[in-house]
Amino acid sequence: MTSEIPRKGLLMLLVALGLTRGGVVKASRDQLVNCTCENPHCKKPTCQGAWCTVVLVREQGGHPQVHRGCGNMNPELCLGRPTEFVNHHCCYRSFCNHNVSLVLEEPDVNPPLLPILGSVLALLVLVALGALGLWRVRRRQEKQRGLHSDLGESSLILKASEQGDSMLGDLLDSDCTTGSGSGLPFLVQRTVARQVALVECVGKGRYGEVWRGSWHGESVAVKIFSSRDEQSWFRETEIYNTVLLRHDNILGFIASDMTSRNSSTQLWLITHFHEHGSLYDFLQRQPLEPQLALRLAVSAACGLAHLHVEIFGTQGKPAIAHRDLKSRNVLVKSDLQCCIADLGLAVMHSQGSDYLDIGNNPRVGTKRYMAPEVLDEQIRTDCFESYKWTDVWAFGLVLWEIARRTIINGIVEDYRPPFYDMVPNDPSFEDMKKVVCTDQQTPTIPNRLAADPVLSGLAQMMRECWYPNPSARLTALRIKKTLQKLSHHPEKPKVTH
Ligand code: ADE
Repeated sequence: MTSEIPRKGLLMLLVALGLTRGGVVKASRDQLVNCTCENPHCKKPTCQGAWCTVVLVREQGGHPQVHRGCGNMNPELCLGRPTEFVNHHCCYRSFCNHNVSLVLEEPDVNPPLLPILGSVLALLVLVALGALGLWRVRRRQEKQRGLHSDLGESSLILKASEQGDSMLGDLLDSDCTTGSGSGLPFLVQRTVARQVALVECVGKGRYGEVWRGSWHGESVAVKIFSSRDEQSWFRETEIYNTVLLRHDNILGFIASDMTSRNSSTQLWLITHFHEHGSLYDFLQRQPLEPQLALRLAVSAACGLAHLHVEIFGTQGKPAIAHRDLKSRNVLVKSDLQCCIADLGLAVMHSQGSDYLDIGNNPRVGTKRYMAPEVLDEQIRTDCFESYKWTDVWAFGLVLWEIARRTIINGIVEDYRPPFYDMVPNDPSFEDMKKVVCTDQQTPTIPNRLAADPVLSGLAQMMRECWYPNPSARLTALRIKKTLQKLSHHPEKPKVTH
């Protein structure tokens, strides 16, 4: 693999280092500091973060450049030894990064023995891991005819499989993903992204567009963010690249890329492609047998429970709240399980370090799905649990959308969005506030659910997702477990007359 660190690779590195405009708050927002902002992402000469940063970056062969900004993620980077390309310094008082200058350290002439032994060991481990990764990749290549790669700069990227198996799957399963996140190394992400051909547009909205793309014959989804929503791209990229988020019920990440075209910036997020599209699309197209309804509901609940849970240890993850859950952000996979998409507004929390990372995306969730405490602005924005409770409110609405489309005793209703009969199309914040807060309305639960022992359980679950008191609502884990139990409920004997 080439040792060059190209511009966008560096940019991705900066995203991973937290030099984007996301914000981590330690315990509360009060502890934010103001810092000088001088790097390619700065919109203003100052920024706010948990600490200030000065990063000296050098592309190979280039002059070192000082980037000043705000730090949010990975405080341990501040302690790291400078490398040939990056020297990272953090400080914790307002504008403490203003006058700091850094130099890239030259190697010691008489280096002490221990660090050298450590480095040699680390190098050996890296070489062994690299060799293993390469061996797996080579083995795959050899299975195919021809060893040549026509793929330009990254010899890691291979000719597409001619045997019908998934090259992307192999690449993502191999050990060569980014250190802590769910993605490929940044250079590989960029190379993959630039080999994707856009095939057909499958969705368009305020967020931008979603295309089905093709990467060496494999379908991928390409979300092209509108320039207004660049913060969502930054946030989603940051989360996928810093959190290990591989789960059957979370949309699988492949690559993120930023390119400059005709003096405008194009922001791409490349993920797995799901033929059925979103749950919203799926529900329009077909009514559901109860077993399928439950399969969709359980799998979506598994995705939400995985997002919400904090997992400790080296393979762990912070707790994540989605903040824009809706049927359009749930995709239906070919095995008819759901996966949750769009982490552009997500917030993260780690109990151990008590970090609440709320980012700083100006976007808000979808009004129709907003919980009462969001609409009346009573939500405690400094408390992570609050965000999970709003997700549960929205999840209850998604369950309701599924329930309406479920056939019980031959009866089913047309697809409708939540509150369709109470607010106009594209409701305003005030429209929603009146219905949800002032009038304390919730969607009408179809009567026919009561006739079915399993679906009456689903009906009760919705009610418990919609308690006005946020902390009284079910947790995602409880929803998941109850739905799993309901889906294992022995089938009702069919009454025949
Ligand atoms: N619509 C939005 N994201 C999609 C994806 N990953 N696959 C298919 N359709 C989508």
